[in-house]
Amino acid sequence: MKLQEKLLLNKKEGKALLATNFYNYETLTAVLTAAKETDSSLIVQLSESSIHYLGLDMAYKMARAGLAKHEVEGWIHLDHGQNTDLVKACIDIGFDSVMIDASEKPITENVEITKSIVNYAAAKDINVEAELGYIAKLDQQQKMVYTQPDEAKSFVDQTGVNALAIAVGSAHGFYKTTPNLQIDLIGEINAVTNAALVLHGSSGIPADQIQAAVRQGITKINLATEIKNAFMLKLKAHMNATDEIDLRKVFPVATEAAKNLVKEKINVINDASLI
Ligand code: 13P
Ligand code: ZN
Ligand code: NA
Repeated sequence: MKLQEKLLLNKKEGKALLATNFYNYETLTAVLTAAKETDSSLIVQLSESSIHYLGLDMAYKMARAGLAKHEVEGWIHLDHGQNTDLVKACIDIGFDSVMIDASEKPITENVEITKSIVNYAAAKDINVEAELGYIAKLDQQQKMVYTQPDEAKSFVDQTGVNALAIAVGSAHGFYKTTPNLQIDLIGEINAVTNAALVLHGSSGIPADQIQAAVRQGITKINLATEIKNAFMLKLKAHMNATDEIDLRKVFPVATEAAKNLVKEKINVINDASLI
């Protein structure tokens, strides 16, 4: 099933998919084994910086090969695409989905840039996600500006995006204080838009808020920082405790920790629709 169809089905059924960032072979293996062991579908996504790190061809082929190897129903997505040339290159190479993120630009420019990517992606019939309202980065001092339902409706109608990242109180990275998602606002935006709604910045959001967000219409949940954190904390601890230099014996310990974290998140999301 195409990702845009799956997300719209989720919207109808009040379900969500986890979208996990990966950075290398080990974190890709971690997220895919988590999906396999929970019998769940998964979106694997790459940021622009991860694509620069791996190279586009390697990043794409690794993700495609990983999905086949682990026999997981999954989709390859570009996360926060800001460079339109790179967004188009991802579409050309075979990504199932791209995010065009022009949310830092004035709204009229965001609409125009998003529309141009929707048009470009139409030939391949893939999912296009955009962002409206600005989802903050926690390493910077920024105040929350929430997405408004009428603006979301008009943005989706004007651009034709399938999926929309909304600013409802989440932020990228770890939180300094417990976040307070605008759960009612999610429901209001969901009621007036045709697009599938995306929650960014999920690292650090308590499970009950994630589940409430899903029940109000969030269909895709982006997770990055906690995966890196679980992997690196375990890797550091293990490195301190061993003289092993065979990296193939060292990395799997960290991969396992990242896998367990992702399994927990998948279970939280899958349980949301049962409550
Ligand atoms: P976190 O790093 O807070 O999990 O956010 C991930 C994200 O939104 C990726 O687009
Ligand atoms: Zn994000
Ligand atoms: Na976060």
